[in-house]
Amino acid sequence: MPSTVLVGTQWGDEGKGKICDLIAGDFDCVVRYQGGNNAGHTIVVGDRKYGLHQVPSGIMYPDCVSVIGNGCVVNPKVLLEEIDMFEHDGISTANLKVSGNAHIIMPYHMDLDGAYEQLLGDHNIGTTKRGIGPCYQDKMARIGLRMQDMLDESVFREKLGRALDRVNPQLEKIFGMPTYTVDQICADYLPMAERLRPYICESGLLLNEMVEDGKSILFEGAQATLLDIDHGTYPYVTSSNCTAGGSVTGSGVGMKNIDRVLGIMKAYITRVGEGPMPTELAYETPEGHTLTEDGYEYGVTTGRRRRCGWFDGVIANYAARVNGLTDIALTKLDVLSAFDTIKVCVAYECDGVRYTTVPEHESVFAAAKPVYEELPGWKCDISACRSFDELPQAAQDYVAYIEKLAHVRVTFVSVGPDREQTINRYWK
Ligand code: GDP
Ligand code: IMO
Ligand code: MG
Repeated sequence: MPSTVLVGTQWGDEGKGKICDLIAGDFDCVVRYQGGNNAGHTIVVGDRKYGLHQVPSGIMYPDCVSVIGNGCVVNPKVLLEEIDMFEHDGISTANLKVSGNAHIIMPYHMDLDGAYEQLLGDHNIGTTKRGIGPCYQDKMARIGLRMQDMLDESVFREKLGRALDRVNPQLEKIFGMPTYTVDQICADYLPMAERLRPYICESGLLLNEMVEDGKSILFEGAQATLLDIDHGTYPYVTSSNCTAGGSVTGSGVGMKNIDRVLGIMKAYITRVGEGPMPTELAYETPEGHTLTEDGYEYGVTTGRRRRCGWFDGVIANYAARVNGLTDIALTKLDVLSAFDTIKVCVAYECDGVRYTTVPEHESVFAAAKPVYEELPGWKCDISACRSFDELPQAAQDYVAYIEKLAHVRVTFVSVGPDREQTINRYWK
């Protein structure tokens, strides 16, 4: 199987977890390359449903090595909870590896995440409050602590002391919040470090040795293209490179070793948190159906109701360009089954100008009004379809229309949350 990047193409929650779990068995290794426990990836196996935050979605396959790469940020407590959950369910974590260079989310990162949001007031980002932004901020400021630091108490104490010299005055003087001592954090984190010690490794080396041995790697993106710090709807984004390019820096594997980029695209759009979303619908639609309820669009991480809207072809095209998509997995097509007609955004209009590509200027995008084409619905249950031909013609036409907008083939069509509820057109 050619090594593949799996990437979200919209604002997250496209069904990356489902597709990753579906194809992970074809690979020798799955590596997460960015983000932390802001991610919530759902895997449904039989009647058991898992919401993963830190552990890669390859964990269900005992022979598949699951790696948390150097580009990730790790909350050790959340990671240990997930490890315990899997071990309790008889799913081995023996093949789980964590990069020694991944940054550690500290308690003060979570405090600051909340405090920064409060300070922004009406301009808040709507973060998951998991400390992601402040952790990446410390990484870039070169005062972050990494997983390898946890393995040596004296190093951990020394670096933590230096970090607190900067962090405590902020907490105390700007936000009037309690400060931290080195002893306090060590008492919490060092026992966790001992439990995590067997998992921590030089993951860049491990991955490259696998590549040299002819093994295949699946790079599992979290968040998505429009939440990317460089290519997303800044400042309403997360703090990492979620796009395909992040897979290289976030894993230490050279780009010549990556052959495919599979974009996960929902058949409509959702967004959690603040920021512009041109095709956003009011909660109630004239048809009496809501994407929110039909699609059960509630966040896996924070439980927030996701904002929903019609498929945005301008974004699909942009995601294809920014990530260099070779294939698309179109998910949740079944959720559209209730609608008489289905709208697709093919362009934006702003101040009398028509845009067929995402406008670079933030304020233009914020004011963009969608230009829709209306396609016929199929009005029947498609969740049992297992081949493309079984889909009603209107559903086939919808898929073909998306291919035309994105200029990329739709390789998978997903018609339900289970592994089996998938139509594989070209994947081999
Ligand atoms: P991720 O963050 O991209 O992994 O996506 P989430 O897990 O946050 O959200 C996707 C949700 O849709 C989960 O509840 C999945 O179980 C569910 N899901 C995935 N694919 C399909 C599908 O084709 N149809 C339906 N109805 N649900 C799906
Ligand atoms: P998965 O991997 C959807 C959003 C937050 C907020 C912004 C910044 O499940 O698709 P952060 O806590 O990262 O600083 O928040 O990004 N966000 C997500 N939205 N799915 C996610 O992950 C997200 N991770 C972050 O809601 O708007
Ligand atoms: Mg999610």
